[in-house]
Amino acid sequence: MNPVELILKKRNKGTLTPQELNWLITGYRDGLVREYQMSAFLMAVYFNGMTREETLTLTRCMMESGVILDLSDIPGFKVDKHSTGGVGDKVSLILAPIVAAAGVPVPMISGRGLGHTGGTLDKLESIPGFNTGLSLDTYRRQLRETGAVLIGQTKDLAPVDKEMYGLRDVTGTVESIPLISGSIMSKKLAEGIDGLVLDVKTGTGAFMKTLEDSRALANSLVSIGLGFGKETIAYITNMNEPIGYEVGNWLEVRECIDCMNGAPVPDLMDLTHHLSGTMIYLGKKAGSVEEGIDLSRKMIESGKAMDKWLEIVAAQGGDISVIKNPASRGQAPVQVQVKSSGSGFIGGFDSREIGMTGILLKAGRMAKDDVISPLTGITIHRKTGEPVSPGDVLFTVHADSEKTASEAVARLIQTVEIAPAKPEKLPMILETIDRNTLNFPSNR
Ligand code: URA
Repeated sequence: MNPVELILKKRNKGTLTPQELNWLITGYRDGLVREYQMSAFLMAVYFNGMTREETLTLTRCMMESGVILDLSDIPGFKVDKHSTGGVGDKVSLILAPIVAAAGVPVPMISGRGLGHTGGTLDKLESIPGFNTGLSLDTYRRQLRETGAVLIGQTKDLAPVDKEMYGLRDVTGTVESIPLISGSIMSKKLAEGIDGLVLDVKTGTGAFMKTLEDSRALANSLVSIGLGFGKETIAYITNMNEPIGYEVGNWLEVRECIDCMNGAPVPDLMDLTHHLSGTMIYLGKKAGSVEEGIDLSRKMIESGKAMDKWLEIVAAQGGDISVIKNPASRGQAPVQVQVKSSGSGFIGGFDSREIGMTGILLKAGRMAKDDVISPLTGITIHRKTGEPVSPGDVLFTVHADSEKTASEAVARLIQTVEIAPAKPEKLPMILETIDRNTLNFPSNR
C-alpha cells in the first residue's frame, strides 16, 4: 500500500478498510509511514472524521501496536480513570491513593500535557526523583505490593499512541472524537484493567467545547470500553473554569498534598470523590456509587489516602521530604499579581487561554521536545461567582523571568469575565454515560 493513497482517500471523505488502517498504523510504528505523512492523515481525520467501525479498528490497531498486559494474576478488580484533558486537572494524584487505600488496585498509565491541557506525568515529575518510566515488570510488582502505580506509556504499551499523541499536540489535530477515542482507549485497553472511569470534560478548557460534542465523545469512549468487555462509566464534567486554584506542575502537586491533608477545595474534591467513589464501586468495594463516595471521603479523613500517597511516591523514587514539607521545594524565581480593575462577580474564565498562558510560562510544551519548568504556573484567587472589587488579586503568576511574567499578566487579565450579577454556577458532574444510557445489557 501507499501512504499517499490512504491520505487522499481520507482527505476525499472515504472510509478506510481495516486492512488499510492496520497497514497505516503498523507502517507508522515501523517507520514506513513518515511523520509528515501521518500529520497529513491526522489532519484529514480531523476534518472528515471516522465511522464507528473505523474508530474501533483504529483503537484496536493502536492497542495491538505493542504488548497487551494481562494482570489477572494480581488479586482484585483493577480500575483506572482517564480524563480527556483539562486545565488544573490534578484529580489523578488524589484519586489513585484514595482508591488504592480503599482496596481497589489502580494501574494508571497517564499522559503528558497535550495542547493547552496539563498532563499527570509532568505533574508527577515535578516531585524530585519521581520515576514515571518504570519497566512493565516493575509496574506489575508495584501494583501488587502498593496497590497503585502511575507511569507513562512505555515503548511497549500502545507505542503508536505515544508517537501520535506527540504529533497531534504540535499539528493542531487534538480535538477529534475518533483520534481522542483511539488514543485514550488503546492505552487503557492495553494496560490490563477490568474497569474504567472516564472524565469527559466540556466547556472553555476542554477539547470538546459543547455538551453535544462531549456527549458524542463519551458515547464513543464508553461503547469502545464496553465493546472490549471492560466495565466503563463516563461522566461529562464542567471544564468552564480551571479545577481548584492552581495551574502548573508543582503548584498542582502542592494543592493535592493540601487536599490529602484535608484542605477544602470544593470543585476539585467533589470531582475527585465522585470519580474515586465510582472506581471503588466498580472495584466491588462498595454497593453503589454513593457508598463509594462515602468511602472515598473516609480515606481522606482517616489519613489513609495520604499514607498511600507517601507509599506510592517512595516506591517510584520520589523525594517524600517535599511531600511532607512542600515549602522545601521552593518556588519559581518571579511572582507577579494580577489585580482586578472592575467590580462585580467573577462571571467565568477562558480556561483554554489560562492553559495557553501556562505554556507561555513553560508549565506546558509548545513543541514536542520542550523542557518543562516544574515550578511555574498560575494561582487563581477568585473563582466563578465570587465577588470582586478594584484592586483585588485575581491571579498570581509564577514565572522563570520578569519578561514571561509580564507577558502572562497581559494575557491573563483577558481570561476572566467580571459580571454585574452573580452568575449561576454549573455543577461539576453534568451527565453520566454508562451501559444503561447506551442500552448495553447489564452484567451485575
Ligand atoms: N488524552 C489522551 O490520552 N489522548 C487524547 O487524545 C486526549 C486526551
